[in-house]
Amino acid sequence: MRVGDKHFRTIWLNDDGRAVDIIDQRWLPHEFRIVTLSTVEDVATAIRDMWVRGAPLIGVTAAYGVAIAMRADPSDEALEAVWHTLHETRPTAINLRWALDEMTRLLKPLPVAERADAAYARAAEIADEDVELNRSIGSHGLTLIRQIAASKKPGESVNILTHCNAGWLATVDYGTATAPIYMATEEGISVHVYVDETRPRNQGAQLTAWEMAGHGVPHTLVVDNAGGHLMQRGQVDMVIVGTDRTTANGDVCNKIGTYLKALAARDNGVPFYVALPSPTIDWTVKDGLAEIPIEERSGDEVSLVWGRAPSGEVVQVRISPDETEAANPAFDVTPARLVTGLITERGVAEASAEGLKGLFPES
Ligand code: MRU
Repeated sequence: MRVGDKHFRTIWLNDDGRAVDIIDQRWLPHEFRIVTLSTVEDVATAIRDMWVRGAPLIGVTAAYGVAIAMRADPSDEALEAVWHTLHETRPTAINLRWALDEMTRLLKPLPVAERADAAYARAAEIADEDVELNRSIGSHGLTLIRQIAASKKPGESVNILTHCNAGWLATVDYGTATAPIYMATEEGISVHVYVDETRPRNQGAQLTAWEMAGHGVPHTLVVDNAGGHLMQRGQVDMVIVGTDRTTANGDVCNKIGTYLKALAARDNGVPFYVALPSPTIDWTVKDGLAEIPIEERSGDEVSLVWGRAPSGEVVQVRISPDETEAANPAFDVTPARLVTGLITERGVAEASAEGLKGLFPES
């Protein structure tokens, strides 16, 4: 998407043809920094410490991590080692394992001399495929937005609430939840987005709001607890969120707080949609609550908040007593029964085993 007058993806091959360049998302919206990842350790740090984040982008970064590993040492041992090193970085987003398995499946049968080139080629393909998946998600989601827009009076906007960042920054380009929003805006449909700030890492305030501002999408930042109130007052027409892992029966794991939005949406008759590419579906898991590992991150993310000081410096401040411990579960699971529909690249599926099987019979 556009940053100023330039088009950026979130990850691309460095000019040296070996390393990859990424947007270091820790500094947004205050600073736009690009960093180069040259080693597997760099890639692991970038995923673990959230320089890159968002399930699809984590997967693509890991695919390039495998390619970097293969250029250094294409042996079976190195292939197995990079799988484990990168798999341990973040436990919840299934796209990470999907990408590592996909790379291993392709590379393992090849002669070692061919592995590095094949790995770079497949990583680039996975990145391109992500862009195409998001475009398709966008067009199916656009149909839903058009239907709501058709019921509006002249001058009224379609009000969409989103949680976390499932935008272009969380993918290679376009985003999942944001793709329909960008397409609707391009088509001239009047859309307004309520952006949940998404404590503790504030992906909404820092990333989604930055995206919306950069693309001229009317938006309002709200605290995480505002959603229910807005829905009670009829100010939200639909919710669209992303997901880090959706089970074979349609349970949706996403950023902490998503479940509360789904409850409020159900209580107020507001449609609750989840946008996802098929690599985010974990066909091996049936019960999201029991089987999806929920990442526990440092309590410091809750107690310490980043922001820009009036001096212009980007600083961190403590908001709780020094001795207070904080818990930080990073994701929650929204049961399928609370989900109105899953917006996939093949269309909108009912959030159920039958719904998903109907669209992906080969899985
Ligand atoms: O912890 P993060 O920032 O990686 O979590 C990201 C989310 O929860 C997104 O909503 C999800 O990955 C979908 S991204 C298209």
